[in-house]
Amino acid sequence: MSILKIARMGNPVLMKQADPVADPGSQEVARLVRDMQETLADIGANGLAAPQVHVSLRIVIYRIPATQIPAEATMQPIDWTVLINPVVTVLTEEKRPIMERCLSLPGLHGLVPRHTKIQLDAVDTDNNAIQIVASGFHAMLIQHECDHLDGILYPMKMTDMSTLAYNSELGEKIFAVTRDPAEFL
Ligand code: NI
Repeated sequence: MSILKIARMGNPVLMKQADPVADPGSQEVARLVRDMQETLADIGANGLAAPQVHVSLRIVIYRIPATQIPAEATMQPIDWTVLINPVVTVLTEEKRPIMERCLSLPGLHGLVPRHTKIQLDAVDTDNNAIQIVASGFHAMLIQHECDHLDGILYPMKMTDMSTLAYNSELGEKIFAVTRDPAEFL
């Protein structure tokens, strides 16, 4: 296994449409997913899309550990989830602004309007069909990661660019603005 290098905003691999995975059950895909998990665990972040590690394929991994969920929230932690060839279907036109960060834009955050409820269809590394209905923070995370597969970074979805800011300028307040218990449904 290995820790992979993260592509940052400006790298062409982040700006293009990623290719569908032809054989989700292949050894190559399994190895890539393991390396992506190791990379994400090493950084301590929640989600990663294959283009962010310089591989232009439609693969996303994520997890939501208990430590990322505010104590007041009712949401249960989500274990490692692997999405291959994911398709997002919007279940409500309602959008809410939610604070996002991205490993490809280190040190920054911004408010992004996201659909509050979505359905996700994908397959896993055993080629089993996955269907997930997600709300709030979970729905945002999936929309953010799947956008990477279409060459979209979160600032491209922002409607109020005045909220794009460096984390270091917020200090401890970063946790207050990124951890609204109401988003953890
Ligand atoms: Ni990202």
